[in-house]
Amino acid sequence: MSARLETPTSAKSTAVLASRGARLLVFDSGIGGLSVLAEINRQLPSAEVTYVADDAAFPYGAWDGAALTAHIDRLMADLIATVSPDVVVIACNTASTLVLPTLRARHSLPFVGTVPAIKPAAKVTKSGLISVLATPGTVERDYTHALIDRFAADVEVTLVGSPRLAEIAERHLRGTPVGGAEIAAEIAPCFVETGARRTDAVVLGCTHYPFLLPHFRRLALWPVTWIDPAPAIARRVAAVLPASGVPSKLCDGPGGDAALVSGKVIFTSGHAPPPALARLLERFGLAPAAL
Ligand code: DGL
Repeated sequence: MSARLETPTSAKSTAVLASRGARLLVFDSGIGGLSVLAEINRQLPSAEVTYVADDAAFPYGAWDGAALTAHIDRLMADLIATVSPDVVVIACNTASTLVLPTLRARHSLPFVGTVPAIKPAAKVTKSGLISVLATPGTVERDYTHALIDRFAADVEVTLVGSPRLAEIAERHLRGTPVGGAEIAAEIAPCFVETGARRTDAVVLGCTHYPFLLPHFRRLALWPVTWIDPAPAIARRVAAVLPASGVPSKLCDGPGGDAALVSGKVIFTSGHAPPPALARLLERFGLAPAAL
């Protein structure tokens, strides 16, 4: 049985926390989690963010579950010790659907996960046909199947495990042109026709995919509602902050394109980002840092 690591909750530490913005650790296998960070930035502009891209281990979608759990468990212990976050945001479906119980059992601070938005898709569909576009790991998870049983029992769900889209999104964000044909081939299985009914909602079950949304819309076989869970995740982060004794400054209105007040980004590979990605990170207010 592994040890559970307590975080300080004394009146003194609460007073210290109150004098600064919430300290968030936002974690993904790569830079897809920036789609979640964009919403956090909009809703919590005073947050101090450390964004960690575990690019040394990318892509998570192809990992064996037990090996990935052990890897993230180890890495997260180091990151929490280094960053001392108030909240950890696992901005990765492939990780969240696997390791959240392990992380929550080991650490006492709040973890906000990212899991496929099956409940909103089931609510929004009129045809009763929805698809979940995610990594091969996420579509296999018991967690994903439990979400379907719980929230989408009366709709038909097509699970599409894409082996390539996360990597295509990484290339796109690093400034390398991506081809329409390779994206079209990955999303085509989402479009299902049964008699007069057609898929009308597709869950973006990987945080990399919102960056490819303009391509998805252009290449869709017919118009559908694409569901991105990022706004709901940012609201959840804001909701758990008071429990940590940290004042949150929740913005209701637009205006979230401003850079973060302070933030840093860590790539576990230690590699410097290429120029296009460096510019994107700068727009997020994230300065490179070492682990
Ligand atoms: N961004 C990750 C997710 O939300 C996965 C990408 C990968 O395969 O590493 O699932």
